[in-house]
Amino acid sequence: MRGFVRAVGFFLSLLICREFSEAAVRGGGQASSPPRGWNSYDSFLWTISETTFLRNAEIVSKKLLPYGYEYVVVDYLWYRRNITGAYENSYGYDVLDEWGRVVPDPGRWPSSVGGKGFKEVADKVHAMGLKFGIHVMRGMSLQAFNGNTPILDVIKGGAYKEDNRQWGAKDIGLIEKKCGWMDNGFMSVNTATGAGKAFLRSLYQQYADWGVDFVKHDCIFGEDLNIDEISFVSETLKELDRPILYSLSPGKFATPAMAQDVSGMVNMYRITADDWDTWADVESHFDISRDMAAARLIGAEGLRGNSWPDLDMLPLGWLTEVGSKQGPNRRCGLTLDEQRTQMTLWSMARSPLMFGGDLRQLDGTTYNLITHPTLLEINSFSTNNMEFPHINVRKAHSALIQSSRSAKNISADMVGVLGLTSCMDSKAIGWVDEAEKQGLDKICWKPDMESSGNRSFCLHKRKPLLTSDEEVNYLKQNHGKFQLLAAERMDFCLDSSMRRKVTAVEQTSNSFSECKWNSNQLWELSHNGTLVSSYSGLCAKMNLVTDTGEGGARAWIANGRRGEIYLSFFNLNPSKTVISAEINHLAKALNDPNLRQGGTCRCTEVWSGTNFGVVKQTLSIAVQGHGCALFVLHCKSATS
Ligand SMILES: *[C@@H]1O[C@H](CO)[C@@H](O)[C@H](O)[C@H]1NC(C)=O
Ligand SMILES: *[C@@H]1O[C@H](CO)[C@@H](O)[C@H](O)[C@H]1NC(C)=O
Ligand SMILES: *[C@@H]1O[C@H](CO)[C@@H](O)[C@H](O)[C@H]1NC(C)=O
Ligand SMILES: *[C@@H]1O[C@H](CO)[C@@H](O)[C@H](O)[C@H]1NC(C)=O
Repeated sequence: MRGFVRAVGFFLSLLICREFSEAAVRGGGQASSPPRGWNSYDSFLWTISETTFLRNAEIVSKKLLPYGYEYVVVDYLWYRRNITGAYENSYGYDVLDEWGRVVPDPGRWPSSVGGKGFKEVADKVHAMGLKFGIHVMRGMSLQAFNGNTPILDVIKGGAYKEDNRQWGAKDIGLIEKKCGWMDNGFMSVNTATGAGKAFLRSLYQQYADWGVDFVKHDCIFGEDLNIDEISFVSETLKELDRPILYSLSPGKFATPAMAQDVSGMVNMYRITADDWDTWADVESHFDISRDMAAARLIGAEGLRGNSWPDLDMLPLGWLTEVGSKQGPNRRCGLTLDEQRTQMTLWSMARSPLMFGGDLRQLDGTTYNLITHPTLLEINSFSTNNMEFPHINVRKAHSALIQSSRSAKNISADMVGVLGLTSCMDSKAIGWVDEAEKQGLDKICWKPDMESSGNRSFCLHKRKPLLTSDEEVNYLKQNHGKFQLLAAERMDFCLDSSMRRKVTAVEQTSNSFSECKWNSNQLWELSHNGTLVSSYSGLCAKMNLVTDTGEGGARAWIANGRRGEIYLSFFNLNPSKTVISAEINHLAKALNDPNLRQGGTCRCTEVWSGTNFGVVKQTLSIAVQGHGCALFVLHCKSATS
């Protein structure tokens, strides 16, 4: 069986490999699907050496290139000497050429000696079948400014002259526009001057000469926005013979309005601050991804092709502690559920996938996650990607709910919490059997509508399986009594008492647990609308309370390229939560008229491998705290 699974996996990866390269050919334009690769920052911060970089690139070419990971990117400060006194915002340790341009630190990049820059590294990377990327900062270095270096005129050759004089770095550096988080390092240049333009042109011409295929331009977007420099660099890249992917980085945040201003000029742009391996970092990407999707920015027109909101590198596997000068030195701090949530959101939101871990120590779990065939299919080829707000959320172990948050509405919602009371309490009245009216096996709470804000709430009657004599006898003895499920397809039954000691605060909520033939889970509906527990003789009532949320839950949907639908549930709560969605709401969101009129879907969940069979109405699953579920649905209309 294992061998078979492996063989299928191998076949799939061959298939995927072919399809990725076909897509690259078919798309034609630059970044026709979200770019994919490896970046040195998460595992080495700034102190990577040539040998280590090339060793990682080699592993990318062998193990990840077949899955579309084609860029290898050196992150920041490759020009800074790695000696005592040098750090992220130190001054005076950068290696510059005579024209004030940063060049690789010869101590760490020995092949750069003699003015060769990154040429040899790029050649080696290309020979591996990969593309080469570098990180650069905004404008010009403070060292160049203070040294008032001359500016290279790459069009005429020699020093840049205008109005009968030679221009220098002090003529173009905007000292009042230093990078906010590296003010000893870099500042913007004045793009309104010919000399400012000449300086930027001399940088990008040099990158192209080295054989660079990807530029990550930092401290230029988000609250560090400098639209003049972005526009000029974008124009310059368009004029170069060499296609270079253009990626932007912000300081801390970006908004859809900022993204709209730049998306047409670039290929990808970061929309959050640096993402590290904490749950808070993962969680902070949900709102902004939703807003970028809603603004139709995913895959919008970009520089020589398309552009993509970038959720940042994947800090998985073997990483470096921030502030360290020698990496890597620790494992990723996310649980496996949290890592799956990250990969699934990055895939559903079609973010570029830039792996950040040290590949020399790539473990099997991380490898399988970043090369997961379904995730990569979604990431490369899905369409119509968006957050899907119409989900119901029920905490699996405390009771229940009708919490649907609309896309932009993060205000607290009301939830129903089941409590128990004396059956003589008039507040216990309000339960009805919906089976009499619609042929549905439901028990619903429909009390005085005015006081409950017109909310109703239903539990599902469990269908007896009648598979054992014990069960048949039990039901005979308990005629008219039933078990209640949290959701149609979940085997969690409502308990009438706690299975463990609880604190006073928890007292109000009941719990669901595995269904058992036990009076604790048997209920009976009285003629006066009370729901009686066989265990205690007490009656159920609903209390409406404000849902404080605890992070709640999210869902995303997308169309697959072969007619399939992808649906992911994300449980942002720390505890297990039942999340469900209605098929007809999916149909509405994806604007699928066939499905709207009573369609059904065949459905599989990817992480558990569970086949849910044909789902007619509600899709429901218990999701681990901080975990996710990913469904692949094949749907058809009722008439076909
Ligand atoms: C950088 O400097 C640190 C501290 O001196 C050292 O441990 C590390 O090996 C150096 N890295 C490289 C690539 O030179
Ligand atoms: C947010 O939800 C609340 C409660 O459900 C509702 O009253 C309010 O109108 C909603 N606001 C928006 C902007 O949708
Ligand atoms: C509802 O009916 C039950 C059984 O007949 C009775 O014991 C209970 O007091 C009634 N409750 C109310 C609130 O009328
Ligand atoms: C409940 O529904 C009734 C009738 O449709 C309506 O008049 C009333 O305003 C609603 N109440 C709330 C709180 O929404």
